[in-house]
Amino acid sequence: MSAPTPTVAAGPVPTGPVPAVVHVLAGDVVGPVRRRVFGAFVEHLGRCVYGGLHDPSHPSADAAGFRQDVADLVRELGVTVVRYPGGNFVSGYRWEDGVGPRELRPRRRDLAWHSTETNEVGTDELAAWARDLGIELMMAVNLGTRGVLEAVELLEYVNGRPGTTWADRRVAATGRDDPHGVRIWCLGNEMDGTWQVGHLSAEAYGTLAARTAAAMRMADPHLELVAVGSSDSGMATFGTWDRTVLEHTYDQVDLLSAHAYYELRDGDLPTFLASALDLSAVVSRLGAIADEVKAARGGTKDILLSVDEWNVWYHDGQLAQEAEAAAADRDGDRGWPVAPPLFEDAYTVADAVVVGDLLMTLLEHADRVAAASLAQLVNAIAPIRTVTGGPAWRQATFHPFALTARHARGQVLRTRTEVAAQETAHGPAPLVHAVSTWDETDRTGVVLLVNRATDRPALVELDLAGLPSRGSVEAVGLWDDDPSATCTVQDPDRVRPRPLAVRDLGAGRVAIDLPPVCWALVQLRP
Ligand code: AHR
Repeated sequence: MSAPTPTVAAGPVPTGPVPAVVHVLAGDVVGPVRRRVFGAFVEHLGRCVYGGLHDPSHPSADAAGFRQDVADLVRELGVTVVRYPGGNFVSGYRWEDGVGPRELRPRRRDLAWHSTETNEVGTDELAAWARDLGIELMMAVNLGTRGVLEAVELLEYVNGRPGTTWADRRVAATGRDDPHGVRIWCLGNEMDGTWQVGHLSAEAYGTLAARTAAAMRMADPHLELVAVGSSDSGMATFGTWDRTVLEHTYDQVDLLSAHAYYELRDGDLPTFLASALDLSAVVSRLGAIADEVKAARGGTKDILLSVDEWNVWYHDGQLAQEAEAAAADRDGDRGWPVAPPLFEDAYTVADAVVVGDLLMTLLEHADRVAAASLAQLVNAIAPIRTVTGGPAWRQATFHPFALTARHARGQVLRTRTEVAAQETAHGPAPLVHAVSTWDETDRTGVVLLVNRATDRPALVELDLAGLPSRGSVEAVGLWDDDPSATCTVQDPDRVRPRPLAVRDLGAGRVAIDLPPVCWALVQLRP
């Protein structure tokens, strides 16, 4: 598979505005824009489900208790697939607790997030919510505290036709014969992490995942199964974990997962703005390992990647606080709260630019990344925030995701960018990053752009000469004089996309000036 879009450094970092020329290479297709790349993640964590998606007391709640104002925002975000129910939560979850009559569902301790799980929402409720929104469900099975039996029983419950016990229980619970029809399944979550309930070695996990996958395939050979890959590129086991797991599971799985979170550390904005370089390296490295395992086994299928948790997350501080609280909790004083407000990060303009850039990078690897989930959807590290019983609003990170999901279609085209690079902890980072898509059916396209310079505009010249004839070119961007600006419940529209001027240079070229720390979408219409 191919390397991502080449960038040509055009000499030393300029002191004034950053000149950049982006050539869209019309005939050079990386791969299709896969709709599953616009996925998100819903975990029983904090107020993602309870108080986020689901809040029966809210004026907009439907009969099932799901907030319709939040559902409208999820629609607007353009989410195509939702991964559920975890995350670390899944590794201690008994799925049976969350189905059947609500009054009989147990309250359980959730060890992952030190919370009480009421089980008011479970598989059937989430599946119905997703179906109403036209969203595909991607489910994870618990391979932390459970195994093959529970996974195949869950599969029967979710996808089985009436006539056997678990499928009949679903029919009784939902009043519908039709199965939920979940095609894509994660074989556990982050089993490489010592923080995971039931954490395993790569050998032990690979063996269990292969056995579970084989049993699930006996029920349905057409499932798409995801083996757990590395949770973080900084882990000592990054790469070796993935190789060992694939050596065990290659015959049984279709995809390998990767998780990637980034945050601004020590005020180093240039390095933060270059986070996409790390994600790109992760995808390339894991792709190469998958190809090596394939070759060593004489295999015929390519293992694709499911980047099923990615985002900006200020987790260093939060997880340290969590560990401190756990250490101090000698007498169980912390308690087991229901839906505590966890990880409700308020995202800045700079965070949104990074999120836009990460999504561009996932598209740029269209020949390897088959699915991805922004982690998460509501309240917990999410593009949508709510007040329980009160308003819901879009965070800054909502906008690049929504615009890309709406407008990027057809195929990803390679681009060649001439621009200077700046030194970062991820290596030399081109100051302008560009990714392009083209949809031949309606002859529309987009060029997604980021200006990673923190203090200077970028003067971008787009060379579109190779594309079929086109009409209008319009651009919107996300930037602010204050890159730390956020959207709040008091000022939910503080950060919004705004039009950017496009100048026609003739001969298939246009010019767009990007302010510092800016993400932009350029639309090419017939
Ligand atoms: O998304 C939050 C958590 O991050 C998930 O539960 C876990 O899989 C990851 O470590």
